[in-house]
Amino acid sequence: MTTTVRTRVAIVGAGPAGLLLSHLLDQAGIDSVVIDRRSRDEIESTIRAGILEQGTVELLDTIGEASRARTVGHRHDGIELRVEGEGHRIDFAETVGRAVWLYPQHEVLKDLIAARLAAGQDLRFGVTAEGIDDADRPRVIARDAEGNPFEIEAEFVVGSDGSRSVARATVTGSSTGGYFREYPFAWFGILCEAPPSSAELIYSTSPEGFALVSQRSDTVQRMYFQCDPDTDTTAYSEEQLWDELQKRVPGTTLKKGRIFQRDVLRFRSFVAHELRRGRVALVGDAAHTVPPTGAKGMNLAIADVRLLAAALGALLIDGDERLLDAYPETASRRIWKAQHFSWWMTSLLHVAPDATDFDRRRRLGELRTVVESEHGRAFLAEAYCGWPFDA
Ligand code: PHB
Repeated sequence: MTTTVRTRVAIVGAGPAGLLLSHLLDQAGIDSVVIDRRSRDEIESTIRAGILEQGTVELLDTIGEASRARTVGHRHDGIELRVEGEGHRIDFAETVGRAVWLYPQHEVLKDLIAARLAAGQDLRFGVTAEGIDDADRPRVIARDAEGNPFEIEAEFVVGSDGSRSVARATVTGSSTGGYFREYPFAWFGILCEAPPSSAELIYSTSPEGFALVSQRSDTVQRMYFQCDPDTDTTAYSEEQLWDELQKRVPGTTLKKGRIFQRDVLRFRSFVAHELRRGRVALVGDAAHTVPPTGAKGMNLAIADVRLLAAALGALLIDGDERLLDAYPETASRRIWKAQHFSWWMTSLLHVAPDATDFDRRRRLGELRTVVESEHGRAFLAEAYCGWPFDA
């Protein structure tokens, strides 16, 4: 037998975007139901990126003390670009008067889930959406954890269901319809038990390729090095992993420790051709993905949600469709700025497999143009910290 629930907004996907949207709607007095095919435990333990823009932290502040971004996370006032061993600090405070916070995505998810459950949110784990019926009078067709049919009838449906979105097919007419680009490299990521090797993040480019020295806490560190997209995570011994990392970060002796997690992150740039059809809209990775170099993924998802929450408020409270009609265009402006920045940071710092000596020298010239100019540093800092929300 099919269970049917009714709500004003059905949210497919309990990632940062879906959960924050349910919170903002709740603040406006709008009920929603959030479903996710994963278990709570799976959601809270998936390792993702860790940089929050200032605007993201400010929006998370609206969930109150449940947001630990400022208390457990760490404020970073700059990053270092390491160019073949030569360090250049990009000072965010000095160039744009803003900062970012290092606070991993799964911690953001723990905070949001706790806050939503405490507020009585109808949040269902282990419920798999199979499709959305009728973009104009939408109904989410799903299965619950036991495999029984489950449906949500809603005035509006939001697809915040990640890069393999089920909702996307209803909006774009196909599950893949979008602007798309792949890259000939990926990141090999590790988590290790060690003290930080540096006070701030180091984005390092060297003839051997790119590496990022990031952090998680005083005792756990996150680092990445450029690798082939088809690399097998078991291909390296621990010692080889440290060698691969170390040779890409000349100028700093990395502090080593037991490596307890490894993964390969493939790079894709993607923007769906459409972000809305009728009473269905896409946000976050369902709408777009970026390579991780600029740390834009989650921040961009949160920026979509900010716009869509306001648009749904106007629609469902005042019957005013104007913000919703404008959503694809307004969201696209920031999406394409972030696409450009992510692509640019990626191209600037990685060594393409077929790069010639000319390419390498041209890239170094471009890097110097950026780091040796006040305008270049400010361009990077503004994009990294996040463009003001009304821009
Ligand atoms: C991370 O800490 O996982 C991280 C930080 C910065 C990035 C990407 C990932 O650009």
